Amino acid sequence: MTLQISNLEEYKEAYRKSVENPDMFWSEQAETFSWRKKWDKVLEWDFKEPKVEWFKGAQLNITENCLDRHLKTKGDQTAILWEPNDPNAEVTKLSFRQLHAEVCKFSNVLKANGIGKGDRVCFYMPMVPELAIGVLACARIGAIHSVVFAGFSATALADRIKDASCKMVICSDYNHRGKKNIPVKQVVDEAINQGCESIETVIVHKNTGGDIQWNENLDKWWHLEMIGKDPVCEPEVMDAEDMLFILYTSGSTGKPKGVVHTCAGYMVYTCYSFRNIFQYKDGDIYWCTADIGWITGHSYIIYGPLLAGATTIMFEGVPTYPDASRFWEICQKHKVNQFYTAPTAIRALMAHGDEHIDKYDLNDLKVIGSVGEPINDEAWQWYNDKVGRGRAPIVDTWWQTETGGIMISPLPNITDTKPCYASYPLPGIQPVLLDSDGNELRGNDVEGLLCIKYPWPSMIRTTYGDHNRCKQVYFSAFDNMYFTGDGCRRDEEGRIRIIGRVDDVINVSGHRMGTAEVENAINEHEAVIESAVVGYPHDIKGQGIFGYIIVQDQEEISDDFAKEINAIVTKVIGPIAKPDKILIVPGLPKTRSGKIMRRILRKIASGDASNLGDISTLLNPEVVDKIKKLAGLI
Ligand code: WT7
Repeated sequence: MTLQISNLEEYKEAYRKSVENPDMFWSEQAETFSWRKKWDKVLEWDFKEPKVEWFKGAQLNITENCLDRHLKTKGDQTAILWEPNDPNAEVTKLSFRQLHAEVCKFSNVLKANGIGKGDRVCFYMPMVPELAIGVLACARIGAIHSVVFAGFSATALADRIKDASCKMVICSDYNHRGKKNIPVKQVVDEAINQGCESIETVIVHKNTGGDIQWNENLDKWWHLEMIGKDPVCEPEVMDAEDMLFILYTSGSTGKPKGVVHTCAGYMVYTCYSFRNIFQYKDGDIYWCTADIGWITGHSYIIYGPLLAGATTIMFEGVPTYPDASRFWEICQKHKVNQFYTAPTAIRALMAHGDEHIDKYDLNDLKVIGSVGEPINDEAWQWYNDKVGRGRAPIVDTWWQTETGGIMISPLPNITDTKPCYASYPLPGIQPVLLDSDGNELRGNDVEGLLCIKYPWPSMIRTTYGDHNRCKQVYFSAFDNMYFTGDGCRRDEEGRIRIIGRVDDVINVSGHRMGTAEVENAINEHEAVIESAVVGYPHDIKGQGIFGYIIVQDQEEISDDFAKEINAIVTKVIGPIAKPDKILIVPGLPKTRSGKIMRRILRKIASGDASNLGDISTLLNPEVVDKIKKLAGLI
């Protein structure tokens, strides 16, 4: 089995080894997997291009490592434990053997529908076992999955389908979400009507059985396709650097980009990080509450846990249905040992009151994790006291869609925890702090831009269809560095605290939004001339979205303007991108070169305009006081 560090000495030793001899360190990790052919070279890299190749020459199939490898020893152990939205509905348990058979059957469905190695398959589904089965089936036959979070709009889905020229979409009829049923198939139909010509087949999983429109040319039922399919499917033999999946994420400019991960490195790193950060022991029940539409679900619901032979819980519902006890009830019911969630959920549940948690038996919890955004002190303390009961340590895990796996995190009961600190890098990860000129800040007690100076196996390889974009966004800010886009602080003892994005990316409830994306959506309203969107501190969501909007004719603006803006943003991106506040303004503060000074807008949005710094270089400094007045700050 992959290394599992068990004390501080081992951590230090592993870290030292990983820096002094990375090839040896990573080949030792990789040894423990099953390979069709071993690698010729551990690592070849050049951040300038960028080109990063791990385990070159090796051949494998990741599902052989997630499934087949465990059949002898763990065939009857539960691999996926599915907890439905309705607390009274039956739990589904799929053993490794059953999951293997389902994945093989669906692999054969994919093949029968003309999907093969290298084809792109889009998923737009709720958190049901079929999503995991479908994703793994793609990996088994070498097709590339592109999972789109089912909260995105038809337009956003169509953009992603087109960008990757997907041949197939897999969806459900409806999604259960608390009390509501969401018409997912209808969204897929709308997306396809927006010119997704590459789509040849839509496979529909019957989830609620509600009415849907049926398109004879494209649509096929999942359950009918599965009938009579062989539960055996030989895995496609993949090269180490063959593409495994695409996952879209937002950046500061343009449309979302498809982050590409490849087979071998992603496999080695997600298993390694999972085992160490959650200190998973055989027989433990592990639960990550994320959605598989995000990287957290890919790496730490599906791949990492299954590679490590873990029992992983998939939860269909929401934290507040039927009430705010649901998470703790599930923890008690399934005797969860490792629990992994997001600060926004912690803050929301905290606000519902302690009576929802105090009565539950959470004694089986050994590790509790946080991911996706900075966790504030109050939420950290509540999580530590109420959920961890001062006994199960918090792992505040920092990473990104692009890093593929957790990069900086405490190791439970091995390294210490400090509120709001992601703490220490995992062995193999070499973070550096830079000042804005690119000088490395070597000492402790410093603040700077977070970069990574050496490759790690699960790092982004390219942005789909546009390698230059990958180079520009991540490898051009500083020479020979991967730039994360985050600012951070290193304390006196070397622990890292993530402060947040330093680019135009907003983190709303742990969801990444590009300001440009939201602005483009707002600008589609016919009355809007220009807009600027910034993040501001929000009690529950971490950051809220504040939109400054210039309109053609203020007199013509209807009372429903805010509603209209919300409707447009919902249509173009999805409800998660709706502005929390909008302000109609006569102009936007701009530099002489025409760039919006977002720094000023962020300050005003935060409700504090006392110290705006130097505004004399603005093209239109007079607009600042006007905006302040409209915001009620003077
Ligand atoms: C951004 C990446 C990684 C899975 C979910 C989000 C922020 C992530 C933390 C943390 C403070 C965090 C960063 C990062 N972030 N984890 N523990 N503490 N900030 O993935 O959508 O790619 O977003 O989320 O700003 O850059 P993502």
